[in-house]
Amino acid sequence: MCPPQHFAVEYVINPWMNTDVPVDHALAMSQWTTLKETYEKLGHKVDLIDPQPGLPDMVFAANSATVIDGHVLGARFRADQRVPEAEHYRRWFLEHGYREVTMPTCINEAEGDFTWTGTVLLAGTGFRTDPGAHAEAQEILGVPVVSLQLIDPRYYHLDTALFVLDDRGPAPLICYYPEAFSPGSQRVLARLFPDAVIASSAEAEAFGLNGIADGANAVLPVGAETLGEKIADRGFEIHYVDISEFMKSGGGPKCCTMEIRD
Ligand code: ARG
Repeated sequence: MCPPQHFAVEYVINPWMNTDVPVDHALAMSQWTTLKETYEKLGHKVDLIDPQPGLPDMVFAANSATVIDGHVLGARFRADQRVPEAEHYRRWFLEHGYREVTMPTCINEAEGDFTWTGTVLLAGTGFRTDPGAHAEAQEILGVPVVSLQLIDPRYYHLDTALFVLDDRGPAPLICYYPEAFSPGSQRVLARLFPDAVIASSAEAEAFGLNGIADGANAVLPVGAETLGEKIADRGFEIHYVDISEFMKSGGGPKCCTMEIRD
């Protein structure tokens, strides 16, 4: 995770961002700290990267690498304003002993558009990550990739429309908002995950699909309680976090979190 020291909405690169709506900096810091403490309380280890001045979106750690079995595939951002973030995260991995760190040649916004289900890597495209990055991820990470087409600009990253609840075992459990995907991709998801938890448009708008789960617990934004009930019905414990300040940038709990799978 990256502390939101320099977090702000200084430019507009998705429909949630509006430079006229101020971010409450102290509130952002306390919301982020609560998210971090929630992970720690659930037994997860949180590593930090130093925030950099001039990179207000660096708090969204999910966008800067995809890590599977210790292989690190870095990022290449679409928006000029975010391009320098990728190098800071690349260096973090090198400084922390990671040996297999590869930078992509195609536009690749990492876990913003890549989600590991434990068996396949779901890969979004349409707004940010290039389809070419999907093939690149398959070669570099050595995992099967399933491409999915995003069609609603409000759900510009895969992690705003879908998340994995349980990646253990042969039949992963996922949760998604079908209307964010093209008709063909909706059929792919229905075929691969017939048992999925389906979110409504109101739940998607509350950023409910930007949740994060570990097979037993799900961390969801305040406002996504009806989705939380559906997920609780599948045996999960739900932990709500207020992310009002990050939503002003089109971000939520998952965006603030890169999952490192060693
Ligand atoms: N303002 C950031 C952007 O538009 C938000 C990124 C959110 N991250 C995510 N993983 N969806 O790039």
